Order: sequence, then C-alpha cells, then structure tokens
Amino acid sequence: MPKTIYVTQPIPESGLEMLRTAGEVRVGPAGRTATPEELAAQVRGVDAVLCFVGEPIDATVLEAAAPTCRVVANYGVGTDNIDIPTATRLGIQVTNTPDVLTDATADLAFTLLLAVARDLAGAARLAASGTWTGVAPMQLFGHDVAGRTLGIVGAGRIGAAVARRGMGFDMPVVYTSRKGQAALDKAGATRLSLGELLERADFVSLHVALTPETRGLIGADELARMKRSAYLINTSRGQVVDEAALIRALRDGSIAGAGLDVFAREPHIPPELLAMPNVVCLPHVGSATHETRSRMAVVAARNVIACLRGEAPPNPVNGLST
Ligand code: DGY
Repeated sequence: MPKTIYVTQPIPESGLEMLRTAGEVRVGPAGRTATPEELAAQVRGVDAVLCFVGEPIDATVLEAAAPTCRVVANYGVGTDNIDIPTATRLGIQVTNTPDVLTDATADLAFTLLLAVARDLAGAARLAASGTWTGVAPMQLFGHDVAGRTLGIVGAGRIGAAVARRGMGFDMPVVYTSRKGQAALDKAGATRLSLGELLERADFVSLHVALTPETRGLIGADELARMKRSAYLINTSRGQVVDEAALIRALRDGSIAGAGLDVFAREPHIPPELLAMPNVVCLPHVGSATHETRSRMAVVAARNVIACLRGEAPPNPVNGLST
C-alpha cells in the first residue's frame, strides 16, 4: 500500500519533493491555522503528518491519526503545540527541526534588539510620514549597544548564537542555563541566576522552550527586577511572558521597551502592545528566511521518511523506539 503523508500547510518544494518519493503527499490549505477538529478530520487514515509550530496537535488530532500514523514531524524546533505524552502513549513518533534555524532565529532576536535600541520603528514612521524636515542634531536618539549588558535567558543553541552576536557588538554577556556553557564561559560570558541577570542586563533576550516550568517565567516580579532602562526581547514563545504584566510594566515605565516576535495567543497581538511607540511587534518570523525554511522542510521530510521506513528519525523528540 502506498503511504499517505499529510502536510498541514504548504512548505518549500525542497521538502515536498523528498516526501513524494516516499508516498502520496496531500497538502492542506494555506493561510489559516486549522482547528483541532479540522485537523482531526484531515489526518484520519494517514501514515505521517508534517505540521507547523502554531498548529494544535492535541489528543483529538492524535487519536484520529493513531490507528495508521507513525510520525508527527514538526516543521520547527519548538514542540509545545503537540501533546507529546499522548503521542507517546499512542506510539506516534514526534520529531522537530533543530540546528537549521538557529542562525535565522538568532539574527531576528538581534535585529529586534537593535530595532528597539535605535527606535527603528519611530524613525521609519517619521520617514514615511512626509513630515520629516531634515537631519537634525537632537532628533530620534536611540541608545548604543556596545558596552551595554546582554542577558540571555536560556543559553541553548539559539541563546548561545545570540550571545555570540552580542559579543561581536562589544556587549558584555550574562546568561542563565541549567548547566554551564563552556564555550560561552571561555568567550567571557558569565552565568548568573535569573534574578541576578534581570537586575544586571540592559537587554534581556528569552530563549527557553515553552514547558510547564517556563510558562509565565517572566511575570510582574521578574519585570520589576529589570532596570527601568532595560529592554525585553522575546523570540521564544509568547506564553513564557505574562503578557498582562508586560503591558503594565511598559505602561508604567518600569522597563524601557520590548521587541516581540511571539505572543501568548497567536495570532492575537494585544492592541496595547501594537500602540506603544517603544515596542516592536513582529508576526512570529524567527525562522522565516528562504534558506532556513527550505532547510527546515528537508529536515522535516527526512524525519518523516525515516519513520515510514521503520528507521530511527534523525531528530526524535519523544524517543520512541521504531
Ligand atoms: C520554531 O521553530 O519553534 C520557531 O518558532 C518557528 O519560527
């Protein structure tokens, strides 16, 4: 019997052409995240599912897929959209696409850092407004980043890559991590507790996976520990931050601003955040480059193909034996 692979939304051709060598590929519609009920109807009877990080692969979806499905391959590194315990119980492999998106996501975090430091959004608004009267000695001041401390919360692959970018811009780097990171230490970074980091950093950049332990990690108390002149950068997951507390902290001036690529209830972006001149909001584009998304498609396809062949996938998340 030919295998059936359900790809929930269009992905780059690099991955689709690999998948077509392994079975019949069905691609879901572009443009809107399906509900669990819709996804459940689509995955019934398929051998593999390739899905994206914003899609809710919950027990309803997994149970619909389970009688035939061997693998749910996430097109992304974070797997908080998938009910992993249920997948494991049902014998479904879960895989992801680490490494290939590290640089793109780190670049975006650093872009947000520079954007808030130099008030790029305000400058772009003035340029577009038609009211600019010419270069002026006291106009649109931002802040230097050289010499200002970069705090990395979660120094895994992406966090470490952001730290390296900060060092290249002459920023002292402090970080939190469950264990010391020898390469960062050797490069001059200092490992701190979260509380110490929040008190010391001028830019706090979040790079933890969303887990029960990290949900709401940055709440009112943590924001209150940050310097009034500090900026928060989030390219990890929106739910790592208590969004209501962040809005209050920004409104009260207890932090200077924020650069946000992720939100607690995507695609909803709180209008308060969109309206604040000291906040840059992006629509979750951390890994969105042609090159990176194409590599992610290949990695996700490799994971699907390995599982369909009964082999161990290159990037297992729940480590089921095949
Ligand atoms: C991921 O891979 O987890 C990213 O958020 C996708 O952009």
